[in-house]
Amino acid sequence: MKTRFTDEWIEEVRSASDLVGVIGETVPLKKAGANYKGCCPFHHEKTPSFMVSPEKGIYKCFGCGESGDAIAFVMKTQNMNFIEALEYLASRANIAIPEQSDEDDPDQKEKKRLYELNREAAIYFYRNLKNEREAYAYFQKRSLTIETIQKFGLGFSSDEWQVLKEAMLKKGFTEEEMMKAGLLSKSEKTGRTYDRFRGRMMFPIQDIRGRMIGFGGRVLEKGEPKYLNSPETIIFNKRFNLYALHLAKKDARREGLILVEGYMDVIALHQVGITTAVASLGTALTKEQAHLIKRYTDQIYICYDSDSAGQKATDRAIQVLLDAKMEPRIIILGNAKDPDEWIQRDGVESFQQAITTATYYVDYQLARIQSKYTVKDDEQRVLCIREITQYLKGLKDRTTREIYAEHLARDFQVPKGLFLERAAEVPREKPREKPRDPAIHKEPLVIKSNNRSLIQEFLIMLHEKPALFEELKVDPMVVAFAGSGLDSYVAELFPLLSEGKLRDKEAISEFFVDRFDKEREMLYNSRTEFSGEVSQKVLMDYIKKIHLQYYRGLKKDREGLLQSIPLRDEEMRKMIILEIQEIMRKMNELGTM
Ligand code: UTP
Ligand code: MN
Repeated sequence: MKTRFTDEWIEEVRSASDLVGVIGETVPLKKAGANYKGCCPFHHEKTPSFMVSPEKGIYKCFGCGESGDAIAFVMKTQNMNFIEALEYLASRANIAIPEQSDEDDPDQKEKKRLYELNREAAIYFYRNLKNEREAYAYFQKRSLTIETIQKFGLGFSSDEWQVLKEAMLKKGFTEEEMMKAGLLSKSEKTGRTYDRFRGRMMFPIQDIRGRMIGFGGRVLEKGEPKYLNSPETIIFNKRFNLYALHLAKKDARREGLILVEGYMDVIALHQVGITTAVASLGTALTKEQAHLIKRYTDQIYICYDSDSAGQKATDRAIQVLLDAKMEPRIIILGNAKDPDEWIQRDGVESFQQAITTATYYVDYQLARIQSKYTVKDDEQRVLCIREITQYLKGLKDRTTREIYAEHLARDFQVPKGLFLERAAEVPREKPREKPRDPAIHKEPLVIKSNNRSLIQEFLIMLHEKPALFEELKVDPMVVAFAGSGLDSYVAELFPLLSEGKLRDKEAISEFFVDRFDKEREMLYNSRTEFSGEVSQKVLMDYIKKIHLQYYRGLKKDREGLLQSIPLRDEEMRKMIILEIQEIMRKMNELGTM
């Protein structure tokens, strides 16, 4: 690639840069002989050991060793790359920046058009809000202020097929450009294009430089998918971007970054002044995103949703961050579903408190392990110690291992050495997993139903292969089927299946002559709606989900109850809290199965 900056030009910028002035903008400097002195911005110190030599054009810290020239300083403190730093310094010194003409790089030209298009679309969605009462009401219901709506450029896409397309055509954009930006979809049958986002609350997504690269669109109230995002395009690459980083980066160096799951979580936090929240874009944290974070700070907090998916995602994010050489802290949500709910319910101080007391990842993971075992039982203690030993072994830093072994030894009242045993001395916790269910390798199972519940889908499949019931690792709980209208049927059916009495669909029909006909008819008639193989694994996945759904409801119920019980009724509250913890433990267990 041709670069547009010559060596001479770069040198000109370097020598024309007023180093003391540039550094002085972020670091208070005092004259000390021919040099200037200040407190180093790269490490914490109270007595200045950071020297700037205008004569040599360099700075150096005698405390931490950081050193460089004006370009390096700008790159490091303003998180710019080399080119950006050069452009910044050149304009500061009134040196003309060589233009790169678009013809040189057609790719660049095209990208620019798409950024512009997205920006116009975002403006369109935003303006649209005043025509759409329902959408505006929804924003209010979520306690979003006008300022927040503006700051994040939120908007609404009308529930129509061509309105955005028409509006953007009028602005001079082509259909092809709109396809490339992912704003239109194309009908396979007719080949006609139509607005991708319809009837959705729109969240424009910007890159670190604030360029509009894509959108997330949320349904108002209920509907599937809850969020529809822009597809990957030449300017929208989810792996490489974090939602709201362009806003959060300003304070990141000083305060770190808080990683949350949802757009709404980010927005709720920013609205109350916690401006360092960012979110990955509907995917698990990627290593590219971790590296992006590292450009701004090493201080990273994870505050994902409290459900088991969130806990799993936390574990994965911890690993990704560790791989990128960052040691995260975890903000534990207690009984709030997500940061948004927390802020709405308990207010900002409570969240701020949680940031300052965030749990170091090692403590978090140890607590996760320990929550799986009951410490009173000796056998469980042994298993628990083994698992902890395994975990500690995986920690790269020896000091961390030693220190934690010491704490743990005290807690468990066993010698410290136990936690530091070498791998060979620790017997395997479990025998290797059973050979894999052969059905897994067959065609993947696809359910083609629209509005069927998990419960219905599960039962449809179970009726295909009732004999699998016996082999399931977890017995489906009848209570989890309550409310589906199928629970009385299930209450009779499950015990029979677990005894292996009814081994195929015909046997079931014969057994229940004239009873639960309606129920079975509904299930049997759905037979054609799935393709692929019903396996033990598939059924287990469903049971897990159904049980989780049940526990989630139960937890919500108990949390509501807890709120209604006065603080002085301590005993009662304690009981409920214990129950909630037990529910969470069970959810946890399901999540890790
Ligand atoms: P959540 O369901 O937790 O969303 O998904 P949220 O932002 O908290 O929204 P509310 O509060 O329910 O309105 C977390 C994130 O996962 C992605 C989105 O980025 C969302 O913000 N997601 C979720 C999708 O991309 N698609 C989906 O269907 C659901
Ligand atoms: Mn939410």
